[in-house]
Amino acid sequence: MKKLFIKTHGCQMNFYDSEKMVDLLKPHGYQLNNNVEDADIIVLNTCHIREKAVEKTYSELGRIRDKIALRKEKTGKDSIVAVAGCVAQAQGKEIMRRSPWVDIVVGPQSFQNLPELIAKVDPIKKNKHVDINFPVIPKFDQLNHEVRDRGPSAFLTIQEGCDKFCTFCVVPYTRGAEYSRPVKSIIDEAKKLIDAGVKEITLLGQNVNAWNANGPNKKKWGLGRLIAELAKIKDLEFIRYTTSHPLDMDLDLIEAHRDIEKLMPYLHLPLQSGSDNILKLMNRKHTTKQYLKVIEKVRHYKPDIAISGDFIIGFPGESSRDHESTINVINEVQYSQAYSFKYSIRPGTPAAIYYNHVDEKVKSSRLQEIQEILREQQMRFNKNSIGSTLKVLVLKHGKKNGQYLGRSPFNQSIYFNSEELNLIGSTVDIDVTEAFQNSLTGKMKINKCI
Ligand code: 5AD
Ligand code: SF4
Repeated sequence: MKKLFIKTHGCQMNFYDSEKMVDLLKPHGYQLNNNVEDADIIVLNTCHIREKAVEKTYSELGRIRDKIALRKEKTGKDSIVAVAGCVAQAQGKEIMRRSPWVDIVVGPQSFQNLPELIAKVDPIKKNKHVDINFPVIPKFDQLNHEVRDRGPSAFLTIQEGCDKFCTFCVVPYTRGAEYSRPVKSIIDEAKKLIDAGVKEITLLGQNVNAWNANGPNKKKWGLGRLIAELAKIKDLEFIRYTTSHPLDMDLDLIEAHRDIEKLMPYLHLPLQSGSDNILKLMNRKHTTKQYLKVIEKVRHYKPDIAISGDFIIGFPGESSRDHESTINVINEVQYSQAYSFKYSIRPGTPAAIYYNHVDEKVKSSRLQEIQEILREQQMRFNKNSIGSTLKVLVLKHGKKNGQYLGRSPFNQSIYFNSEELNLIGSTVDIDVTEAFQNSLTGKMKINKCI
C-alpha cells in the first residue's frame, strides 16, 4: 500500500470531502497515514471562507516543500503534492506558479478525478495538473460510497453550493450553484454508514435546509420530509443538520423538530448582523424581524431547542448603532453557543469593493464585546443543564484514565467516567453535575439491566 496524508482546513463539508478522498483512493492502493514525512501523496484540503486563507495555504505549502525534500534526501522517494478545496478553486494555476512543487490542483467539485490526476503525474517530467471544473455529471455519482470505519458519528453531504450571494461570501464562487443530491443516493449512503456502525448522522450543506428533490412518488421533498425518511433507518439514533438559512426554515422542517424524536433539538441558524441596514448591504434577503419570527416559531414547536448562530462583526458601513442592534438581537434570542468573526475582505465578492470599511481596532473591540455576551449566554445555557439527565452518544475516550467524551442532544461536549470498557458508540444516560464554558461533566446512570 502507498501512504496518503491529508490535512483538512475549514468546515465540516471539507472534512466530509477528505473522508471521501480516502475512500476514493483506497482501491488505488493508498492507505491513510498520519505521518506527513513518509507520505507518497500529500493532500492539502483548503478553506477560503475567512481571513488570510490564501496566505495560510502558501505557508503550509512551504512547510510541505521542506518535508518532501527531506524525504527525497533520506529515501530517494518522490512525493506527490495535491491542493484541494476552496483555495484551490479560487487560485487555480496560480498555486503552481507560487509553489512549483505542487503537482495537482483540484477543486471541490472535481476531486472525484484525483485517481486519474495522480496516475498522470510524472516525477521526472514534473508535469502539472489542474482540474477546477464544475462537472456536468455530479461528483456524488462518481464517488466511491463504500464506507470505512467512521466511528459513531459521521457527516453526510446532501446539498452543496449556494445561490444566495451574500455580499461577503465566497461560497457561491468556490462551491458553485446550489445542488441537492437525489433521495436515493442519500438514503443508500446513510444505510451504508449505519451498517458500518454509525449511530449519528449530521446532514451537511452550505444551505442544507434549501435541500429539495423529488421523492419516490415524484412529489417534491424538502429537508423535513427527508429527515422523516432517514429516521426510519432502524439503527440510526441521532440526526442533525447544518448550516441553515433563515428563509429556508419551512414548516415541514420546524414540525420535524416536534415530531421526530431522532432529530436533535439543536438549530444552527446564522443571523450575521442584528441591523436591518447591514443585512440589506449583506444581501441576506431577510430582516431581523423575520429571523426572530423563525426562532419564535421553532421554539413554539420545540420549546427546549438550543439555538446557535454566526455573526460577522464590522461589516463595511457598520455603525455603533448597528452594532448595538446586533447585541439587542443576541440578547433577545439567548444562544446556547454561537460563532462570531471579524469581517474579512474576500477578493471577488461585492463587499470587497465597498468603500466604508470599519477600522480594525473598532472591529476588534466590537468582536470582544459580542464574544463576551455570547460566552455568558453559553455558560448560562450549560449551567441550566445541571441536574438534568441527558441522553448522550459516547464518541471517544477522554484524555484521563477511564474518562469518556460524548455529545448531548443540545450539541454540548460531556465528560464522564466509567469502568466499562466498550462504551464508544453506545447511548447512555448522564446525570449532569457540573457545567463549564465549553463542556459538561456528569455521572452515568447505572443501567438496571446489567
Ligand atoms: N468575513 C468574516 N466572516 C465570514 N463568514 C463568511 N464570510 C465571511 C467574511 N468574508 C462567516 C459567516 C458564515 C461563516 C461560515 O463564516 O458568519 O456564516
Ligand atoms: Fe455564503 Fe450567504 Fe450562501 Fe451562506 S447563504 S453560503 S453566507 S452566500
